[in-house]
Amino acid sequence: MVLVRWFGHSAFMIEGSQGKILIDPFLNENPASTTKAKDIRDVDLILVTHAHNDHLGDTIEIAQNTGAKTVAIYELAVYLSKFGIDTIGMNYGGTIDIGGIKISMVPAVHTSTYIDDRGELVALGNPAGFVVEIDDRKIYHSGDTMLFKDMELIGKLFGPIDLALIPIGGRFIMDVEQALISLDYLKPKYAIPMHYNTWSLIRADPYYFKDEAGKKGVKVFVIQPGESIEV
Ligand code: NI
Ligand code: MN
Repeated sequence: MVLVRWFGHSAFMIEGSQGKILIDPFLNENPASTTKAKDIRDVDLILVTHAHNDHLGDTIEIAQNTGAKTVAIYELAVYLSKFGIDTIGMNYGGTIDIGGIKISMVPAVHTSTYIDDRGELVALGNPAGFVVEIDDRKIYHSGDTMLFKDMELIGKLFGPIDLALIPIGGRFIMDVEQALISLDYLKPKYAIPMHYNTWSLIRADPYYFKDEAGKKGVKVFVIQPGESIEV
């Protein structure tokens, strides 16, 4: 049994017998999250899909507070290692095993830049998604992405996927219609929509997504920030 908690936007905590994994911990400036970085006391791994602030978020603070290892694409890992935190760099196609938890990095169709102290845009590698295998459960976090046909390959390589964490907010990432097609490719058992209604630019109706996904045989959990489900 694995516990999956959502903090709003794309921030999740996955908790199993083998450890606790935080993904895209955007908490302090996340208007949807009542959990803040200082509240996270116990985490083993932090996975960062890309360098945009609404995903990298409070990674450095939480890693410094907890000693968690941070997993990211090579360029972003090198950048983060300058902050004195323990980083693991990897790239598309790779899988790492940390205490029995398997983390695989897969592509996402998006960008990955960071705004430095001088206001300059810095490129920090490519954006990614992750497949997490923990306690015999497979969970896919797509990161920020549009719909892409290779999601079918992700479903094939790593499937059957138990839970897909899928953006639906549009504008910068998949909208609901694209997200529904992604379910055809990924064929997950369950899905949780993310990256919507955090701000007015990414408005979406998660209940429409739930109803339409249900017609495809995918059970969607629409949960509120702070809530969790078991898979
Ligand atoms: Ni982004
Ligand atoms: Mn984003």
